[in-house]
Amino acid sequence: MIILGIETSCDETAAAVIDFKNDNKVELLSNVIATSLSLHAQTGGIIPEIAAREQVKFIIPVIDESLKALKNPQEKIDAIAVTYGPGLIGSLLVGVETAKTFAYIWNKPIIPVNHLFGHIYANFIGKNKIEFPAIALIVSGGHTDLVLIKNHRDIKWLGGTRDDAAGEAFDKTGRLLNLSYPAGPEIEKLAMGIEKDIYNFPRPLIDSNDYDFSFSGLKTAVLREVQKIKNPNYEQLKNLSFSLQEAIFDVLIKKTIKAAKEYNVKSILLGGGVAANQTLRKRFESEVRSQKLEIELFIPEKKLCTDNAAMIAAAAFFNNEQTDWRKISADPELYFD
Ligand code: KG4
Ligand code: ZN
Repeated sequence: MIILGIETSCDETAAAVIDFKNDNKVELLSNVIATSLSLHAQTGGIIPEIAAREQVKFIIPVIDESLKALKNPQEKIDAIAVTYGPGLIGSLLVGVETAKTFAYIWNKPIIPVNHLFGHIYANFIGKNKIEFPAIALIVSGGHTDLVLIKNHRDIKWLGGTRDDAAGEAFDKTGRLLNLSYPAGPEIEKLAMGIEKDIYNFPRPLIDSNDYDFSFSGLKTAVLREVQKIKNPNYEQLKNLSFSLQEAIFDVLIKKTIKAAKEYNVKSILLGGGVAANQTLRKRFESEVRSQKLEIELFIPEKKLCTDNAAMIAAAAFFNNEQTDWRKISADPELYFD
């Protein structure tokens, strides 16, 4: 089965073509992403109207480029997968309405995909077998969620952030530290080489009896330190970055491992932009190893952690709810059932 995936929920405009073989092997034929990030870097955050306007310009060239992977795309493509939520309404509409147009003209079914499921299914690209039950941690700019996957289409939400997402905590703190947007990758670079957590920021809800998270207090804790220091120099910026990263990662790792043990899972899946962080990846790997857990850890390759359309096509294949194009509409508030 060959699926064209389309993703436009935030600032990226993405299209991908994936071939799903009979043995569930997932082959990525193309994965094209255009981003308006440099425009948002100037304003320190995403301006929805600007994101959507850029997506209107990019969407056809991006799809056109992704379809070059096939000789006769109209004949070869079996279905069109599109993110229908959650996300920015203007951005989602660009992808959804474009997908509907292609479905109408080519007479193909649409498979609507929840963006959050996409981050989970990025793990299935290039992997042969992921055993269930699994715990998935989605850590992005908009979401921090822990979910239990008993099987495809049998996903239970365990908990999520009560305020800021983990990526949002990086981005908002980055603004305090005068870093460019999105700050996650820059904070990762600054934190490199530091080994001592000198600021010891709070680990919110780390021992709470649930799977909720709360990261909004962290930026206030960093702000207090910055006010004390006044103009942080490079060394202080490095230490602040390391301490922030440690505080966020301690909570993410502890709660994910706790859920994995409670539900006796066979796999842990990470997904979302923050999962691109090398330190988080290494810390998760060493935690699973040092606790001698009989759990396999899956983390998508870096370019599949941040928003892309390949993960949307993968989620579509495994959940395959083919729908008539007339019945699809964008849903910015979509979440887990
Ligand atoms: O999944 P994503 O591309 O978009 C959303 O669905 O939100 O995630 C973007 C988020 C941003 O907050 C960004 O700062 C964060 O992921 N991020 C990182 C890294 N790369 C991206 N955070 C920490 N370390 C990174 N290397
Ligand atoms: Zn995302």
